[in-house]
Amino acid sequence: MTESERKLINPDGTRLDGRSKTDIRETSIEAGVSSRADGSALIKMGNNIILAVVHGPRELHPKHLVNPNKAVIRCTYRMATFSVGDRKRPAPSRREREISKVMTESLESVVLTHLYPRSAIDVFVQVLQADGGTRCAALSAASVAVADAGIPMRDLIAGCAAGIIEDQVVVDLADYEDKEGTGDVPLGYAPSVDEVSLLQMDGNFTKEQLLESVELAKEGCRQVYLIQREALKKKYSDIREEVAEEIVEEAIELKENIEEDQADITDFMEEEEEEEEEDFIDYGDDDEEDDEKVVDDLLEPTTFFEEE
Ligand code: CDP
Repeated sequence: MTESERKLINPDGTRLDGRSKTDIRETSIEAGVSSRADGSALIKMGNNIILAVVHGPRELHPKHLVNPNKAVIRCTYRMATFSVGDRKRPAPSRREREISKVMTESLESVVLTHLYPRSAIDVFVQVLQADGGTRCAALSAASVAVADAGIPMRDLIAGCAAGIIEDQVVVDLADYEDKEGTGDVPLGYAPSVDEVSLLQMDGNFTKEQLLESVELAKEGCRQVYLIQREALKKKYSDIREEVAEEIVEEAIELKENIEEDQADITDFMEEEEEEEEEDFIDYGDDDEEDDEKVVDDLLEPTTFFEEE
């Protein structure tokens, strides 16, 4: 049986990788993975591995692109030559330029660009390993990277596709489902503000299938959204823990310094007391001797005359 003839849905309704039609692939996102960039995120969605980094807001070059009213977002999506089975040609393809454009437009819908007039927000996305649905996964990572850069946004954009395999609408197609299925609908969605900012379609859909795909893709985006939020929360709770640890370390050091100082002061005071005591005894002895001599002299006044 060739791949195009094999069944993609098991008799029990599950897909070949065991997922139900509403399950997204196992997904993890880590924010702040690059120390070079202002913001960054790494997403693993199924076998996709995608890195997004953000530089900016920063001065925009070339100057003729400057917008005096808002920041210009420039998103660049690229696939590494080793990211797919057959070596991908290194030159930017039409597909890469197209994905860069739709990602830019999607991010523009949520980023508060008016806060940074005359500047650029550069988003670089590198697909390290591709396994279907990379534009959606890339958009999810890019949006976390922008948030990680501290750039204000109305909402995060989550990306997820839905598509048709064996006449059934399923969410988040893996590469083989994308290739062996009959169509897919990639979606970029901001769940909190309930706005769709990327919607594409590849293949033939009935109206019902299209509407069901959009709803299912939105549901997939909501699942991704929770993971995005967790990634950002984790980044900042890690920072908070680091700061708390630093404060505790500083407090311990300060306490040790104070204790050392107190010990020095105590030693010094003891030494002073000892010295004072020594001084007191010396003077006391002399005085006593002098007094005794004076008393003796007084008691024997005649001695002097007698001797004379
Ligand atoms: O990745 P996405 O589904 O957003 O875009 P696509 O154009 O529908 O590509 C589907 C999949 O084809 C990608 O995710 C890759 O796994 C694969 N692909 C490839 O093998 N070689 C390429 N030059 C481009 C894409």
